Amino acid sequence: MTTTAQSRQATSTDACYQRCLNIDCASTYDVSEVRTKCGVCGDLLDVVYDWSRIKTPSRLLDLESLWSKRHEPLRFSGVWRFHELLPFAPANRVITVGEGQTLLQQADFVSRYVGLRPGQLYLQYEGMNPSGSFKDNGMCAAFTHAHMVGAKRAACASTGNTSASLAMYCAVTQLMKAIIFIGSGKISYGKLSQALEYGALTVQIAGDFDDAMARVQEISKELGIYLVNSVNPFRLEGQKTVMFRVLEALRWEVPDWIVVPGGNLGNSSAFGKAFMELKELGLITRVPRLAVINAAGADTLDVLYNQRNLRWNRGRPRMETACWYYDELDKGKIKADTIASAIEINRPVNLKKCLRALDVCDGVVRKVSDQEILDAKAQVGAGGIGCEPASAASVAGAKLLRQQGVIGYEDRVVCILTGHQLKDPTATVAYHTTDQDTFEEVLGSRGVTRASYANRAIAVPNKVEDIIKAIQLYS
Ligand code: F0G
Repeated sequence: MTTTAQSRQATSTDACYQRCLNIDCASTYDVSEVRTKCGVCGDLLDVVYDWSRIKTPSRLLDLESLWSKRHEPLRFSGVWRFHELLPFAPANRVITVGEGQTLLQQADFVSRYVGLRPGQLYLQYEGMNPSGSFKDNGMCAAFTHAHMVGAKRAACASTGNTSASLAMYCAVTQLMKAIIFIGSGKISYGKLSQALEYGALTVQIAGDFDDAMARVQEISKELGIYLVNSVNPFRLEGQKTVMFRVLEALRWEVPDWIVVPGGNLGNSSAFGKAFMELKELGLITRVPRLAVINAAGADTLDVLYNQRNLRWNRGRPRMETACWYYDELDKGKIKADTIASAIEINRPVNLKKCLRALDVCDGVVRKVSDQEILDAKAQVGAGGIGCEPASAASVAGAKLLRQQGVIGYEDRVVCILTGHQLKDPTATVAYHTTDQDTFEEVLGSRGVTRASYANRAIAVPNKVEDIIKAIQLYS
């Protein structure tokens, strides 16, 4: 692995390099460098392309034909099919396990719930990825980079999906050992079971995700372990392709809105970058609006954006606003707390990149309560796809924005469903349960008081006539 001592600046002939996000620093690094921060000022890094040196498609439509070559793993992958738009690794070096075969579904049942004209709501179901969440889009890219630089161990902190994804790539390829950091009692069994079964070294620290994130950054630096959290800029390159597939499914028409849950803010950052680059390449003429939805119990972005007016500010956001806010959280001993455990995050590492995405996409930020999340989740499930709680924040957010008149009745809206329904059955079963104690134990403490869309099991005696009577009564 390239170390800091061997650090090499990118040269003017490089078609792809890493660059500091701080426009007053803008230090550059070769793609072969392993970094998650700028060595000069400590800001986030971006993967940057000199498109004039790269062969890119002249029309997005040309990318579609690559699907006809799906017998080639590179074309089968819903990430690497778009390799020309994330060409940081040579095509013959990329790693795939068949990620990104995901579906954009027109969801009329859910559109009624959200308050949109039928036909206008689409759900991008990233739960169809091999490890059951959108993370595989980014993980195959970070994993490819890790392999390119010769890494033998890769680590992440996780609320569960990143760790499941990393553990899967390590297990399928046998190229690296996965080391995952999780907070105590903060990970759903569905996700934990994946990491354990795929053989990841699982480190459960006495703390929450924000603590685990801080520790994994320190420890991976100290031990020279490759870090795959979304502070890794290569992760975000893979996550851009979620937007490419959305456009592809809409026959390259740009929707009016993309609505996405916000946790560590990797997705929203990647989506903004995708549209920024497509525009720069002249492949689209307009960008959609972006709505990032926090859970009310983990609402840092909402507070900073809506109450404290933190903005991209032409590349010079006043990040001290965030530092002050984090101090307040520490002083008040305030920890993130939501049933949507995947986004139970108070210190989003990609905050600054997300501000750029919000700027590029004329974005908005909202927060939704656990009650709204679970009601939306039940409706997504009743519409036949299902998702984990964090994912439903997008649908709850779209409903809220529709009620506020920010999203119009006729607007074409794409909500990203980030994770599979089976990732977190505890929340789902508690919502639909007939057992008041279970409901109270799992949901009551989170301010969830009702389950308006519950589909409750009916209890019947073990007798044929009683069972028939019950079926006739309820069907
Ligand atoms: N939805 C799901 C299902 C997630 O697992 C996550 C993040 C998010 C949304 C938030 O996405 O960070 O890009 O804003 N999960 C991370 C993890 C933190 O460790 O699995 P983001």
